[in-house]
Amino acid sequence: MQNFIFLIDRFDGTNSWRQRYEFPHKPGMTVLACLIHIKENIDPTLNFTASCRSAICGACAVRVNGNAVLACDTMVDDLREQWGEDTLTISPLGNAKVISDLVVKWDEKIHRLRKANTGLHARDEFSAHEGCRQSPEDMQAVSKQWDCILCGSCASECNKLSDDSTDFLEPFIYTHAARYAKDSRSKNPMEHVMDMERSGLWKCLHCMECVTKCPKGISPADDVALLRDLAYRAGCTEGPGPRHAKAFRTDLENTGRLNEVRLVPRTEGMTSAATKRLPFTLRMFSRGKLTPLEAARLFVADNKRVQDHDGLCRILEANRK
Ligand code: SF4
Ligand code: SF4
Ligand code: FES
Repeated sequence: MQNFIFLIDRFDGTNSWRQRYEFPHKPGMTVLACLIHIKENIDPTLNFTASCRSAICGACAVRVNGNAVLACDTMVDDLREQWGEDTLTISPLGNAKVISDLVVKWDEKIHRLRKANTGLHARDEFSAHEGCRQSPEDMQAVSKQWDCILCGSCASECNKLSDDSTDFLEPFIYTHAARYAKDSRSKNPMEHVMDMERSGLWKCLHCMECVTKCPKGISPADDVALLRDLAYRAGCTEGPGPRHAKAFRTDLENTGRLNEVRLVPRTEGMTSAATKRLPFTLRMFSRGKLTPLEAARLFVADNKRVQDHDGLCRILEANRK
């Protein structure tokens, strides 16, 4: 086997640079073991964070070739096989302010988590003496969300956060809210749903990066979907997000196919769609993606149903309950 070659993104508070480290291959080394080897034997100035070395504390998450992983739980040989190369590029987590080398600032993220999720408020019947008991089944219902170790991998790769973090929260914050909303001990589960409804819930892009990056198998995107469902059922049906969801469902109920020409006005309203989307529509016409005739046909007379539309309706009906 070739030597390990790490290209590490460095930052000293002022300057950024990429530094190359080469050291002998040893089978069974994790990314964290390599970082420790570099710090102890090659370059003591390299900074990174880690604690448990057992995939429990969440402190060691870094990016390898642009994808967040837990350094202590990721074998370098597996990565080299996955990427088909001996050189790996190690960077700090994305969507985070870098303090030094691979160390990122967590203060703002923790502040946002605390502000959005005030914790589990137990129902009144629980006493300090007896504690907050729940059945094994109820515990199972939220056990996945409780697995979150706040490693930040989901937030690192979240495309919505990269685009604009002012109107969206880190994916794990939605996961924490979902866990309180689903917990049988919660006094007022809906307070967690409504907090999220006011905090960008409908802005998720469904890119699924959070799902594929979570080292604990949690799906923040599913938690977003659960919170949306609860919010919608509780009457939060106004605004582009809920209207888009409703328009989506209406298309499926009507024909089984998405009709994007109708989807936009149903989501944004006729006037807004006609004015805001006009330049975009004209560009589509000019590039031959759509003709005015086809747009008109889709708008007024697109009623052809997909095969076995009844079966689809039965699925939608079952999902409504
Ligand atoms: S699915 Fe949503 S929450 Fe998850 S990474 Fe994409 S935009 Fe972020
Ligand atoms: S949801 Fe997963 S990826 Fe996100 S912080 Fe929690 S453990 Fe890490
Ligand atoms: S060092 Fe604790 S999760 Fe990696």
